[in-house]
Amino acid sequence: MEASTTLRVDGAERRIPIDPRTTLLDALRERVGNLSPKKGCDHGQCGACTVLLDGRRVLSCLTLAIAHDGAEVVTAAGLTHPLQQAFIDQDAFQCGYCTPGQICSAAAVLDEVGNGWPSHVTEDLDAEPELTREEVAERMSGNLCRCGAYVNIVSAVRQAGEAR
Ligand code: FES
Ligand code: FES
Repeated sequence: MEASTTLRVDGAERRIPIDPRTTLLDALRERVGNLSPKKGCDHGQCGACTVLLDGRRVLSCLTLAIAHDGAEVVTAAGLTHPLQQAFIDQDAFQCGYCTPGQICSAAAVLDEVGNGWPSHVTEDLDAEPELTREEVAERMSGNLCRCGAYVNIVSAVRQAGEAR
């Protein structure tokens, strides 16, 4: 059965004819032709498919496209953010396969911290959440990197956080 959903993908409105069972990842890659989000595991375990859906990070392989008619989708290809330069400066990738997902996830992490999510127990309720290496690693733990670039990825996220 063919249906359709309309999504705004990296700023462009797209009406996408799809089978209702189509994931957002397959809709983006196979119907829109946006190859930025990657299919790693296709089972919600690696984070390579991470995109921003109405501003929040989601695993697009676990998200049904038809359930988000009218939504705004931003992939790493459509994101303009200090993170891209930070990943270059910090040498935060090797093969690059995980990188689009890492960047989308990191953009959401910086928004989450910026929105005042408490990052540690503190007596000072007005204190800014501290973007420690441990904090970044914890928040990025859903994004795997088979090349093991984790140390540099954390450095890149912190650099971009300081640049905001
Ligand atoms: Fe979606 Fe691995 S491809 S989490
Ligand atoms: Fe190769 Fe992360 S840079 S998987």
